[in-house]
Order: sequence, then C-alpha cells, then structure tokens
Amino acid sequence: MHPMYVRSARWVGVRGSSMPRIPWVIAAAVLAGGALMNVARVDRTNQPVDPADTIEAQAQMPGNVAAIFQRACQDCHSERTHWPWYSGVAPMHWLMAADVYGGRDHLNLSRWGRYSAEERTERLIGICEMVAGNKMPLWYYKPIHPPAQLSENDKKAVCEWVKSAVVEQSAARASVDQQIHPGDAPQQMSDAIR
Ligand code: HEC
Repeated sequence: MHPMYVRSARWVGVRGSSMPRIPWVIAAAVLAGGALMNVARVDRTNQPVDPADTIEAQAQMPGNVAAIFQRACQDCHSERTHWPWYSGVAPMHWLMAADVYGGRDHLNLSRWGRYSAEERTERLIGICEMVAGNKMPLWYYKPIHPPAQLSENDKKAVCEWVKSAVVEQSAARASVDQQIHPGDAPQQMSDAIR
C-alpha cells in the first residue's frame, strides 16, 4: 500500500487511533466562542444620581410602593442597578447589559425629574399596565430574584398609587384635563384598581 494512503486513512479515523475527533472540534469552537464573547465588553455603570431627580423625591409614594420598585424594578429601571458577579461573564454580560440599558431608556426612576409632565403620565400609566398585565418585571428575572415576584396586593398597590400620581400630576398642570379623561385609562388599570 502506498504510504500516503495509510497516513490519510489514519487521519480520518478509518484505521489506527479510535479517538473521536469531532467532539474535540466542537469543544474547541465553544471555548473559542466563549473567549471571544468575553473580549468585547460594555461598561456596567450606575451614573451618579441627583436625589432631587428620583421618583421618590418627585412623586408622593407610600413606603410599600417604593419597596416594590426597589425589589422588582430598580435593577433595570434606575441607576441603582445591582450588578452581580455573573453579569461580568458573557453571555450573561450581554443579556443583562441589554436589559439594563434598554430598561433605563424606557423608564428611569432615578431620572424622573427630567421627564416632562406628559412623559411622566405616559410612564405612570405604563407602569400599572405592565405590572397588572404581568409583563413586568420580565419573566426570567423573577426566578433569579424571588423578591421580585409580585402578589395581587402588590399589583393593586402599584395601580392605586399610579392613579393618585396621575391625579397629582394633572393637578400640577391644569391643561391636562383636556388630555386625560378617566375613561382613557386602560382596561387593565381599571380592572386592577377595582
Ligand atoms: C430584568 C430587567 C427588568 C426588570 C426587573 C423590569 N423591567 Fe421594565 N423593562 C425592561 C426592558 C428591557 C424594557 C424595554 C422593553 C422593550 O424594549 O420592549 C422595559 C420596559 C418597561 C416599561 C416601558 C414599556 C413600554 O412600552 O415602553 C415599563 C413601564 C416598565 N418596563 C415597567 C417596569 C416595572 C414597573 C418594573 C417592576 C415591577 C419593571 N419594569 C421591571 C426591563 C426590566
């Protein structure tokens, strides 16, 4: 037999070594992929907060509602994010950074003072809608953060507070009467309050 043929036959595992080669290739690819994902990073930052800008300072809020925001929302919707150690490891790193920066973009409880009256009203109603509709906190956050599980009473408390905060908001701006009518409140909100 030609020596060339013997060598190539051994290469593909027909003869000689019985070592499975394909799993090694996959393992090497997974390792390389994991290493690459960990090379590129984004900063995990919490920007400094002006206490006067926070929702607690800007809107009157009972303690139980403030506690709900703290345990269920602030990791993604404020500058008080707790970044656990695994948030430093890809792919968790990317998933969490996307949720936190995306969440803050939609609603930042630490920057409440920067929203216009209209933006606040929109966000207030959104908060009740999301909570009453079980859309927030995000479903996969709850098993990792059991205190973020909201009871029916918690949801009710949030929506009751939203209702009074919207009223407070409208009292602060007379013209709001033209823009918000109680009948406009989403069905979920009135259901949750009832
Ligand atoms: C694990 C992260 C996370 C947690 C915890 C979380 N959110 Fe969110 N939230 C997001 C992200 C991400 C978005 C942006 C959603 C999108 O892009 O569709 C968002 C969007 C929102 C919006 C805006 C929806 C819209 O249509 O613009 C509201 C309101 C909201 N969240 C309220 C809350 C409230 C209230 C809590 C706590 C009870 C909470 N979220 C907890 C990540 C989170």
